[in-house]
Amino acid sequence: MQFQLLLEDIVATLRPQLGLAGQVANYIPALARVPAAQLGIALRTCDGEEAHAGDGTTQFSIQSISKLFTLALGMRELGEALWERIGREPSGNPFNSLVQLESEHGIPRNPFINAGAIAVTDRLVSRFDARAEMLAFLSSLCQEPVVVDQEVAASEAATGFRNIALANFMKSFGRLDNEVTAVLGAYFHHCAIRMSCLQLARATGFLSRDGAHPFTGAQVLTERQARRVNALMLTCGTYDAAGEFAFRIGLPCKSGVGGGIVAVVPDRLTLCVWSPALEHSGNSLLGMKALELFTAKTGLSIF
Ligand code: DON
Repeated sequence: MQFQLLLEDIVATLRPQLGLAGQVANYIPALARVPAAQLGIALRTCDGEEAHAGDGTTQFSIQSISKLFTLALGMRELGEALWERIGREPSGNPFNSLVQLESEHGIPRNPFINAGAIAVTDRLVSRFDARAEMLAFLSSLCQEPVVVDQEVAASEAATGFRNIALANFMKSFGRLDNEVTAVLGAYFHHCAIRMSCLQLARATGFLSRDGAHPFTGAQVLTERQARRVNALMLTCGTYDAAGEFAFRIGLPCKSGVGGGIVAVVPDRLTLCVWSPALEHSGNSLLGMKALELFTAKTGLSIF
């Protein structure tokens, strides 16, 4: 398949819509300043073929896409014990909602809502320097140094009142082992990592290769674990839009409020799209359209 031409065609088709609809995340001040009229796309196949178009090599704030790698590290480090304090059901609620935590005794519905990622981060903080370990993990996966945008991290820490509330709430139920400030410090740093579509297409490669490292072939996760991450992406990776994603796109996806979305075609390729303007659930508006065009034109779907 001529992936390079296909990606260029998708960007050319959507470019006239740039800046027309959606809104850049504005609850994190440093993200509100990102120009909306940007669109990038990149992919890497299981055979190592790569393609990118538009702003596919521009770095952006990965935000909740980091939750994918937090989960992978949590699975690698804790195995089944990870699931003692976290569920595996879609929340059907906004990603930063507090409501279910009360009735469900401080156990988040899944690892991809904010509360869930904070709970997994707590387990990582108990084991090692979670900030450094995440950067080392991502740098290994995409074979390039990966860094944190300190301005975004500081901006989140200064305005992350909902996350602070979520963490304190879980702490009140005895569900966090570490100090709230230590856990949130790592969580905010993970969200503030900067990567490009191409780097993310590379870094997620283990999810299309049954857990095998995209460059070295070493097992990052077991085959079963990698499949389970994909299952969670499909059911929970895009919050209360997960049904819409399955219906329109038909691939496991994980989004972030920086406007990035990664998608997995098992045994074929991983793909990342980025455009900062979001729809109401916090998913990139043009990113969704780009993925929809990709699956329509290629026929690639897990269904
Ligand atoms: O904690 C937050 O609210 C942000 N750092 C991440 C939220 C996010 O990306 C949700 N994704 N769509």
